Amino acid sequence: MITETAAAAYKDHVRETWKKGDYAKLATRVMPIAEHLCQSADIRPGKAVLDVATGTGNVAIAAARRGASVSAVDLTPRMVDLTIERAQTEGLAIRTVLGDAEDLPFPSASFDAVLSVCGLWWVPRPDIAIAEARRVLRPGGVVGLAGFTPGSYFGQVEEILKAYRPLPDGVPERNDWANEAVVITRLERHFTDVMTFTATVPWNFASAGVATEFLFTNSASHIAACSGLDPAQVHKLTAEVEQLTTRSSTTSDGIRIDQEYMILLGKVPA
Ligand SMILES: C[S@@+](CC[C@H](N)C(=O)[O-])C[C@H]1O[C@@H](n2cnc3c(N)ncnc32)[C@H](O)[C@@H]1O
Repeated sequence: MITETAAAAYKDHVRETWKKGDYAKLATRVMPIAEHLCQSADIRPGKAVLDVATGTGNVAIAAARRGASVSAVDLTPRMVDLTIERAQTEGLAIRTVLGDAEDLPFPSASFDAVLSVCGLWWVPRPDIAIAEARRVLRPGGVVGLAGFTPGSYFGQVEEILKAYRPLPDGVPERNDWANEAVVITRLERHFTDVMTFTATVPWNFASAGVATEFLFTNSASHIAACSGLDPAQVHKLTAEVEQLTTRSSTTSDGIRIDQEYMILLGKVPA
């Protein structure tokens, strides 16, 4: 596990990364996963739900629409602001808090469900974040995580980006969060009845070029991967992503990518 100092430095880098681009534009394409996660975790009226690493509030919004009593936490002030705006636009009451998944700003046993879509992917110490999720859950509570699988389009994009901008030493692979063998072991240290399943969400674009430009304009991790690269390297990276986009499409008439994601569920004994 990495040191406290290295973890803090990595979180500063993550905060800077998530200031870049316009995640809201990607988040609309991720929203079906948030809806599926809430359905899978059986979110109902009156349940106390925490969305960890909320981004622009996808899971929080999906849970609040179901009548849950929702809190949302994110490390990046800009994301917290965007979630507050979105909740206001939808007329939903969501308690939104700036905070760290590895040190959740909530008392123990506060929630019936702790959920996250592609959120814990960014923590430097997964076991601490999972232990925190467990701490804030009540007996009988459920943890639910979702994210793109290593073989999915985004899983493969992650490998390309990492070749240009490697993760700092000791920071775990993001793709491990949807690597069944790794995540089941991680969750079973803290939860019972751990289970996983996969599904797909379609991402459509006019062309591979449009998709690639969309990602390098809006996606924080694509933009961060380019920082510090010379123009020739940026060109090479962009071309690799565009080729992958073409290969990943199930149609040659435009682009349709069926992005595979994994949902992971675990329980706290009642
Ligand atoms: C992929 S985005 C969010 C996705 C969002 N859950 C959704 O459904 O669209 C990742 C988010 O994780 C947040 N994040 C990264 N590290 C974090 C940490 N240690 N604690 C809380 N949030 C974190 C980032 O600020 C960013 O908003």
